[in-house]
Amino acid sequence: MPGAPNGGPIASPAAATLPDETRPLRVGVIGLGFAGTTHLDAYVAIPGVDVVALAGQERQRLDELASSRQVPNAYEAWEELVARDDLDVVSIGTPNHLHHPIAVAALSSGKHVLCEKPMAPTADLAAEMVDAARRSNQVLKIAFNHRRRADVQFLRRYLDDHPLGVIYHARARWTRRTGIPGLDSWFTSKTMAGGGAMIDLGSHVLDIALHLLDEPRVTRVSAVAYSELGRLGRGGDLEAGKTGAGGHLFEVEDFASALLRLDNGHSLQLEAAWAGYTNDHDDFGVDLLGDQGGARLFVENYAAAGTVTLFSDIDGHRVTSRPEIASPSVGHAVVVRDFIDTIRSGQWATSHGEYGLHRSRVLDAVYESARQGREVAVR
Ligand SMILES: NC(=O)c1ccc[n+]([C@@H]2O[C@H](COP(=O)([O-])OP(=O)(O)OC[C@H]3O[C@@H](n4cnc5c(N)ncnc54)[C@H](O)[C@@H]3O)[C@@H](O)[C@H]2O)c1
Repeated sequence: MPGAPNGGPIASPAAATLPDETRPLRVGVIGLGFAGTTHLDAYVAIPGVDVVALAGQERQRLDELASSRQVPNAYEAWEELVARDDLDVVSIGTPNHLHHPIAVAALSSGKHVLCEKPMAPTADLAAEMVDAARRSNQVLKIAFNHRRRADVQFLRRYLDDHPLGVIYHARARWTRRTGIPGLDSWFTSKTMAGGGAMIDLGSHVLDIALHLLDEPRVTRVSAVAYSELGRLGRGGDLEAGKTGAGGHLFEVEDFASALLRLDNGHSLQLEAAWAGYTNDHDDFGVDLLGDQGGARLFVENYAAAGTVTLFSDIDGHRVTSRPEIASPSVGHAVVVRDFIDTIRSGQWATSHGEYGLHRSRVLDAVYESARQGREVAVR
């Protein structure tokens, strides 16, 4: 039976129902911010895919996007879009607390779902999304776009061809100087977001690290979390333009750090900062420490080149190399194309959101460990 990270056995799928290949796939996109717009543009670029519905609460932007991308149906409420019975696909780019209700409603009414990261505010909700996908035998994918960067994919292939020996430790971090995405937006509401920097940025670098490490299970977590700057009204990204939550307090962490123990006996340090007096920029990366060599991904300010460094020895001499890899920003385009290809292939027995669920369980454990002040097991 195929593996289901932290998700239990996978039910054998009933014969997948392929959409009639002679007609286009019909898509509805929910959300008009960075995520929704990026999804929308990725679908519009794929031949044989029609975006027939769009939803979002900003009326003027909704009308502008619907008109410029020639989407015939526009709704302010997601429920109206999901109620349509002529959609094959629903794509979710809304605040985190809406991922679960939208996904469950869409999956249960026979639609495939692409959902933004993080999968849901809690792992229990994420597990219900996986159950809904399995029950209805629909595809559920989570948009971990950064792992699709060319530099990450280069490293993945490099590790296959040039083992670093035993990778005993890895570090994954995303740190910003002043990058709280809107001090009064839904991002800083515990109920709407589920958490702060760790669930927002940490989820991306956790995904990249687990992907590069060949999907070990995380077994135990010891974490700390702080909200020192956000609660003082510092560290906000005033340009972020995120949608509001109605003047709530700063309820989430702006910094978290966690030591993750892996089922192979090794470890991963995970750190996420929306704000902090460290680096000047908005940087993310992963370091891999092997006993035969090492590798570093360091993406400074979303750099598209010069992001990978490899460390080894030749004849006892230290070798440091910097492969020239161009990583133009194509993450979402690739994620959306893969999602559509999966639907068209009819092969989706392991595409019910299992990877996203494991990541949600790890993030839950990070918050629980920080809350309890001790190491906790990952469920
Ligand atoms: N993968 C990435 O690189 C990436 C980048 C940014 C955001 N995200 C994720 O995408 C999601 C959205 O983030 P964003 O930055 O685009 O947020 P945003 O605040 O800019 O946009 C949210 C959108 O959701 C819509 N919305 C809210 N409630 C709705 C409702 N009831 N019905 C219909 N539409 C509704 C809003 O109108 C808005 O258009 C989040 O889960 C976030 O974590 C991912």
